[in-house]
Amino acid sequence: MTRIITLIVVAAAAVAALVQTLGCSETSSARTLAAQEVYVPPGEHDKYYAFLSGGQSGSVFVVGIPSGRLIREIPVFEPRAAYGYAVHPNDPRRRELEATGGAWGDTHHPAPSETNGVYDGRYLWINDLANGRLARVRLDTFETDRILKIPNLQGAHGIAVVSPNTKYIGVNGEFEQPTDGLATNPAPYTSVVAFVEPESMQVKFEVRVNGNIDIADSSKDGRYFFSTVYNLEQGKDMGGMIQFDRDALAAIDIAAAEKAVADGKAQVRNGVPIIDPEKAEGVLTLIPVPKNPHGVNVTPDGRYAIASGKLSPTVTIVDTKTLKIVAEPEVGLGPLHTTFDNRGNAYTSLFLDSQVVKWNVDKAVAGAPDYIIDRINVHYNIGHLQAAGGETMKPYGDYLLALNKLSKDQYLPVGPDMPEAQELIDISGEKMRMLAAFPTPPEPHDAVFMAASVLKSKVKQVFDVAANAVKAGDESVSRTGPHDVTVNMTMIRSAYTPETIEVREGDRVTFRMTNVETIRDMTHGFALPDHGLNVSLPPGATREITIDTPKPGVYWFYCTNFCSALHLEMRGRLIVQPKDGPVKISDWRAGQNVAGLEVPGVPSTEKSHDREKHHDREQSHDR
Ligand code: CUA
Repeated sequence: MTRIITLIVVAAAAVAALVQTLGCSETSSARTLAAQEVYVPPGEHDKYYAFLSGGQSGSVFVVGIPSGRLIREIPVFEPRAAYGYAVHPNDPRRRELEATGGAWGDTHHPAPSETNGVYDGRYLWINDLANGRLARVRLDTFETDRILKIPNLQGAHGIAVVSPNTKYIGVNGEFEQPTDGLATNPAPYTSVVAFVEPESMQVKFEVRVNGNIDIADSSKDGRYFFSTVYNLEQGKDMGGMIQFDRDALAAIDIAAAEKAVADGKAQVRNGVPIIDPEKAEGVLTLIPVPKNPHGVNVTPDGRYAIASGKLSPTVTIVDTKTLKIVAEPEVGLGPLHTTFDNRGNAYTSLFLDSQVVKWNVDKAVAGAPDYIIDRINVHYNIGHLQAAGGETMKPYGDYLLALNKLSKDQYLPVGPDMPEAQELIDISGEKMRMLAAFPTPPEPHDAVFMAASVLKSKVKQVFDVAANAVKAGDESVSRTGPHDVTVNMTMIRSAYTPETIEVREGDRVTFRMTNVETIRDMTHGFALPDHGLNVSLPPGATREITIDTPKPGVYWFYCTNFCSALHLEMRGRLIVQPKDGPVKISDWRAGQNVAGLEVPGVPSTEKSHDREKHHDREQSHDR
């Protein structure tokens, strides 16, 4: 008997051990599989660009997917010394930032330009919630190109391009304002949706909407611009904003709005026609949806707009032709946003459940009980989510990025504040599979994926020659006024021309600088100590900056990008003479100058490298 019991115990232990071993190996092989799927070997490229808004970083993060490698940060609304972007107070871009609302921004929603309902790789727009701005980034140079302050609007939140051919970029004003723009007005506050023309970056018209206008999308045929609206109560505190069980999905009929403007039914304020829907029939339809809704996303086939309930565990599915609600299925707690694959499935982020829920759109519309397909836990408190191509008419159906607000225990602790957590999920099968996670600085709100192939032929290797570019051989220092000096400078590995600039205290010096390199990645910098100045010039780029001279002395400007073996020697002097000093300062031309000493193995300028000439120039330079 004892023997039998012993046998049973031993057998049970063996089974337990076997189960444990199998469990372990299953976990470990799943890990290996996931790791292989996100591994991109050195030298190979990712399949997708993911553009993540930088949130309070005021920028756009460019991340490779599936690897999760940060490839670039595109500074937009904040100065970035690393890229020589808007650092100096006299940098034209810095002045533009300050003139439009300040040198910081809160970016939320990257929106690429579309042609025929898919990304065309020309532009990416990004909002600044904090200062009511919209910026445009060129995708051939990955540089911020235009910054627009939007009149009559505070809190530029949701943005979306009008599909399928980017007729406008719609921008939602989240923070409601006194309707007449006067702070003394006791009437309920309202806000506007602004419609911006993509090329001119001008606001063509605005449509007034009651309440807080939140997230946006457009119908795929370009007829309607959809915005979720919470606080239809028009409350001015949190308690007042959550009284109603239903707020709204606003559908703006774009053609009707254009007609209202053409018919003179809009009232112009700050140069922009504002349409009051009560005076222009057919412009605005409010569809009641529960409760303080957040995201709105149109299905790739264009049939439905899906509003996520936030304070309701439901999503509301609206027919985009009839604007009628066709279903309101439960999906889980705190639904915020929805994205799509290429097989008719929707993926909704659940903030409170910390989950992504996968559900079938047709089944939900038909009222089938089995519309929920899968759920996966995320870490933690997911906001936006985006499947590859999920906002276009042709999703790819392979990857989904979960943009989680909290990371808590997911990374090495770095104090009470932790990084944001992005998680990459494989959605190619029936079940979702967690592949990888990577942290980011605060705080990506939203992301879009763009196939690398879209940008392959578009991304430039060098900048186009600008109208104000300085050509090699045309460098000069000219006195253009009693207190104005203009320096026309070129740079090439590894020298500035000119490398000595003499000015007087009290001069304003304008540096017009061109990097005349013709090879990709040969970026030079121009930093001036004690002057808050760093300019970055990628190959072919021309930058112009004006500074007031510092106090008399010798200031070494130097290259901030490690460009060659002579990088450390790539320096020059700004010599500031006292106002009443003995030295007469006159013009200088490049004819006698020498730049770029020959160094074995380092490609250099094609100009003369004659040390004799260099010596002559030193001799004849007004001494
Ligand atoms: Cu040019 Cu370092």
